[in-house]
Order: sequence, then C-alpha cells, then structure tokens
Amino acid sequence: MRKFLTMTAIAAVMVGTGGMAAKAAENVEVLHWWTSGGEASALDVLKKDLETKGISWTDMPVAGGGGTEAMTVLRARVTGGNAPTAVQMLGFDIVDWAKEGALGNLDEVAAKEGWDKVIPSALQKFSKYDGHWIAAPVNVHSTNWVWINKAALDKAGGKQPESWEELIALLDKFKEQGITPIAHGGQPWQDATIFDAVVLSLGNDFYNQAFIELNPDALGGAKMKEAFDRMTKLRSYVDDNFSGRDWNLASAMVIEGKAGVQFMGDWAKGEFVKAGKKPGTDFVCMRFPGTQGTVTFNSDQFAMFKVSAEKTAAQLVMASAIENPAFQSAFNVVKGSAPARTDVSDAAFDDCGKKAIKDLAEADKNGTLFGSMAHGHANPASVKNAIYDVVTRQFNGELSSDEAAEELKAAVEAAK
Ligand code: BGC
Repeated sequence: MRKFLTMTAIAAVMVGTGGMAAKAAENVEVLHWWTSGGEASALDVLKKDLETKGISWTDMPVAGGGGTEAMTVLRARVTGGNAPTAVQMLGFDIVDWAKEGALGNLDEVAAKEGWDKVIPSALQKFSKYDGHWIAAPVNVHSTNWVWINKAALDKAGGKQPESWEELIALLDKFKEQGITPIAHGGQPWQDATIFDAVVLSLGNDFYNQAFIELNPDALGGAKMKEAFDRMTKLRSYVDDNFSGRDWNLASAMVIEGKAGVQFMGDWAKGEFVKAGKKPGTDFVCMRFPGTQGTVTFNSDQFAMFKVSAEKTAAQLVMASAIENPAFQSAFNVVKGSAPARTDVSDAAFDDCGKKAIKDLAEADKNGTLFGSMAHGHANPASVKNAIYDVVTRQFNGELSSDEAAEELKAAVEAAK
C-alpha cells in the first residue's frame, strides 16, 4: 500500500533547500477546463493561494465546457504513463478512475481536518471510494438556473416567469423587442444542460426515474416526448448562429442585452460578475420555471492521481488549501458556485450566491437534491454520452419527439 507523508514531513519537504524532492514537491500540474474569463479568474484565486504556500502551478487547460475534451486528453496522458498531479473532474468520472486504481489517497489530510463532518454526503459519494478520500471537492454548481437580462425583463413587464406558459410568453416578448430570446450555444453538453432543467420541470419523480434510475418506461414514455416537445419549442427562440457557440459567448449576449435569457449552470454568473454586472440590477437569477425547491447539482473536484512520493506531498497541501473555509468563500464568490462545505458563511456572496447556498441546503434536507445528468452526477460517462447524442440530434431536428424518446430508451439500455 502507498505510504503517505505526514504533514510534518510535507513541511520539511517544502522548506527544503532545493534538492530534487523539494523541487518536485513545490509544483502541481493541474488539468482543467476553466478557460472562460470568469473561470480563469476563479482559477487564479487557487493559483495565488497555492503560491503563498510555496506550491507553483503548471497549467494544463483543455478548453470545452462540461469537460468532455479534458477527459479525452486525460485518458491519453494516463495511458502514456504521465498522469497530471491533480485533475478537475466531475462525479462518476472520479469513481471510474478510482475503480481503475489510478487515484491517490487523501485520508491523512481529510482525517486531520475533519472533512467527513463538513462535506455533504452527496459530494462524499464522489470524493471517496472504498472508504478512502480520493478527491477534494472545490464547489457545488447546479444546472437548473435561468439568467435574465434585467432591462429586457423590465421592458417585458418585470415579472419572473413561474410556469412553462409564462416562460414562453416572456420569450415571445423578447422576440417583439427585437433581441434573441434565448442565448444558446449548440454543443451537446449545452443542449444537455437545458435538457436537465426541462426534464426536471416535468416533475422530480420523472427526473429521478429517467436520469437516476434509468427506468425504460420513463426514458421512452409520454412524458419524455413532452420533454422533447419543450426542447423543440425552445429551439425556435435561438438565433441562426447558435451552432457551436461557446457557453460564455452566449452569456455575453445576455450581459450585453443582445439576448434575453440563458439557461445555464451558475458558472454563467462568473461571467456576469467578471463583466462587473450585479444581480437584481443588471441581471436576474432564478430557477427554471417549475423547478423551484429542487436542485440538479454538480461538483468540481480535484482528483489526485497516483504520483511519486514527492508530488504526493504537494497534492496534500493543495487538497488542504482547497478545503480551507476562507478559500472556499473567496473562490466560490468568483466562480459563481456554492462552497463544498456546509460551514462556510454566505456573508461574502451576492444574492444569487446566497440563494444557491440556501437552495442547496434545503434541497439536501428535503430529498430534492439530484445529481445533474448533463454534468456527470447521475450516470457514468457511457450513459451520459448516449443521452447527449440523442438530445443533440433531436434539438437539431434530426429526430421527432417520438423517435427521440424511443432512441433514448434504446441508447441508454445499450450503454448501461
Ligand atoms: C463545470 C464548471 C464549468 C462548466 C463550464 C461544468 O461542468 O462544473 O466548473 O465552469 O462546466 O465549463
């Protein structure tokens, strides 16, 4: 079994006088997909924090929201025997790598700092494998959010839509204003992010049966057809250039008032904040109509790969830095997410951040917290990708709602 350095030994390595071990311990190579303006600012909070602890940063960014491309690059790196020190990862991907025996062990720092008591069990499900800590969760995001340009909303009467019908009425008003009603980027993970919210808007039980339990009747049934009908309706409100657009460029359309709304996880708020925009004044955040009280979450975690003993020391320092409550507040204020610990004050967060923290705690308590299908917290990548494929083909008009529901059921069955 791998032997881990004690915290005293780590400190000794860090203040070492420049030997090989000391040099290695002072660096982390981090693979991630945080390449937008808001994401880069958040990452900077982490880089700077580690610098103060004597750890330098080798950046390995792989652009592509949702991390699909990053996971492909990671596979090649690990297969080549050259795993990065730490990797941004989502839910079931972490568990899959743990099953392959590729991940390290953070038990020592987790025990010393009492992570078991402060990190919610919904996250621990992915941070631990076989009873051992394998990843350090940095945040909690959720996908059932709507980001609205405040001036456009005011012009449309100022009322936040509470039902599907009210949402459609608002989108029609945006059309009348001459702006693009929905800012969207046609990439499979973005289509899937909207689909998370649309499926959830048809009921918690439906979301649970379809995406968590993978019940064939829910996947191929009448309600799923209705979900696809709703996707077709939403598709009629995007602009002609939506195909392939990056999510942060879609956020920019709302920020600049060229579009009315974006349906996106709360990393979008990172873009609004980066642009100097304020919730309640410049933009409005709300849960997708019909999903208030429920949260489809995903958590970015830094999974630590099995590396040499010197690098293990740096991994433990990095993991400890990530779980520090002050860091959790500073980082997540910029990222748009909620802290990964339950004991972090919401004082520094804006109104949307406060709502995110409150919604999460309540959903956890009420049993209405579900893993996001689109962001790897409902199923392993094989199933997730099978769902992406059908959702995107349907969104682009290649499948009718009836065909899509049938295909969804069959594709999930084959991928399970
Ligand atoms: C991650 C976020 C990231 C977003 C867009 C999500 O899967 O959890 O941290 O900002 O993708 O890249």
